[in-house]
Amino acid sequence: MTTDQLRALDKQYVWHPFTPMSGWMEGDPLVIVGGDGFHLIDSDGNRYLDGVSSLWCNVHGHRVPEIDAAIRAQLDKIAHSTLLGLANEPSILLADRLMRVVPSNLRKVFYSDAGATATEIAFKLAAQYWFNSGRPEKHEFIAFTEAYHGDTIGAMSIGRVPAFHKPYLPLLFKVHFAPTPHVYRWRSPSANTPLTSDEVKRQALVTLTDLLDRHHNTIAAICIEPVVQGAGGMIVQPAGFLAEVRRLATEYNTLLICDEVATGFGRTGRMFAVEHEGVQPDLMTVAKGLTGGYLPLAATFATQRIFDAFLGRPDEGKTFFHGHTYTGNPLACAAAIANLQLMEERAVVANVADNAPALAELLKPLLALPHVGDIRQMGYMVGIELVKDKATREPFDPALRVGHTVCQRMRGRGVIVRPIGDTIILMPPPAMRLDGLRALVGALSAELESCRL
Ligand SMILES: Cc1ncc(COP(=O)(O)O)c(C=O)c1O
Repeated sequence: MTTDQLRALDKQYVWHPFTPMSGWMEGDPLVIVGGDGFHLIDSDGNRYLDGVSSLWCNVHGHRVPEIDAAIRAQLDKIAHSTLLGLANEPSILLADRLMRVVPSNLRKVFYSDAGATATEIAFKLAAQYWFNSGRPEKHEFIAFTEAYHGDTIGAMSIGRVPAFHKPYLPLLFKVHFAPTPHVYRWRSPSANTPLTSDEVKRQALVTLTDLLDRHHNTIAAICIEPVVQGAGGMIVQPAGFLAEVRRLATEYNTLLICDEVATGFGRTGRMFAVEHEGVQPDLMTVAKGLTGGYLPLAATFATQRIFDAFLGRPDEGKTFFHGHTYTGNPLACAAAIANLQLMEERAVVANVADNAPALAELLKPLLALPHVGDIRQMGYMVGIELVKDKATREPFDPALRVGHTVCQRMRGRGVIVRPIGDTIILMPPPAMRLDGLRALVGALSAELESCRL
């Protein structure tokens, strides 16, 4: 089919996620037909650097021979069989492999197929853990403002990105929100000048402690995106914040859920972001990079203590009645095993850690540009916030869609990136080397220098 025919059919039938569809219908969408290493290839043969890892999930690039071969080999055995009442080989081998890389207190894995399902499972496990332990009143949650955990009703309840969640607010269950320690955007009634990272951390922890003081008897868990809040705009938490949240969760007898869907598998320069602060969560969720960005697979990890609370005779009602048709899908598990093996063989996590300082150096000159207000980075997770007025930090009028415009124009420079509001996100695949990072930042820099905002 020609590009025009594909575009016409797409506009006729396909409803795109997180996409204002009237603008889409008026544009000429790129139709991706291939991939090659870190590049995407469109239906006219143009190549684009995949600057957001195909929505934060790609790890080694596209068409990786080892992962392709693992999926093909599994296809020759079986594509799918259920985990309800049966086991399957790849899900067992993957569990064994995962247990060697997750924090050592996590001993059980529950599979699903998206970040949102992994977080729903964590919330349900937390609530039922207390129910099974004779504390049914502990069924509420503490989460953080601007958190994002996915788009199902439960995941939305525990997230709060106003632009995404407003229409559904009546459907969402009650959650206590603690302020996220967003240093660049922190507003303190008593301070006119910007606060230091340490002071923002202190103030955020005071509010969290106050919430726990008042509600700890009903709190099942605190849920956090560890170290970096991704979809909220790449908000990097002050150093030590996560460790303090862990300490408070223990002190007030609530569970700690760490959502590593975005941060997991090397993206922050550690296998998991919790490692930066030596934190052991009670429940942990992963998805996106688990299969190297190949197939939908997610996992929720739990401690032995949580698992044990679900044991008992069937008539005791302690079973976790939750599952999905494709839970533990063998093709996806085979891809994940190959991904983890390659990550180890090629020292992919060390690649991110080693190149992160050089990436910071490449980004530094952007801060001198007239509309670059803030650059937030942890490993290969980068947010560049564009503002109307650098002195006052006043944002652009959202109707101008400045971030969207910059990202669309970047395509002319052979780079695919996607903004969150007016924050330009760079999320290169963890296996990318310095030459790729240079090309990515170089294109953004050239675009920001040449365009009039
Ligand atoms: C921290 C976090 N949790 C959960 C999700 C939801 O993942 P999915 O889109 O696979 O449902 C995301 C997606 O961006 C995320 O960043």
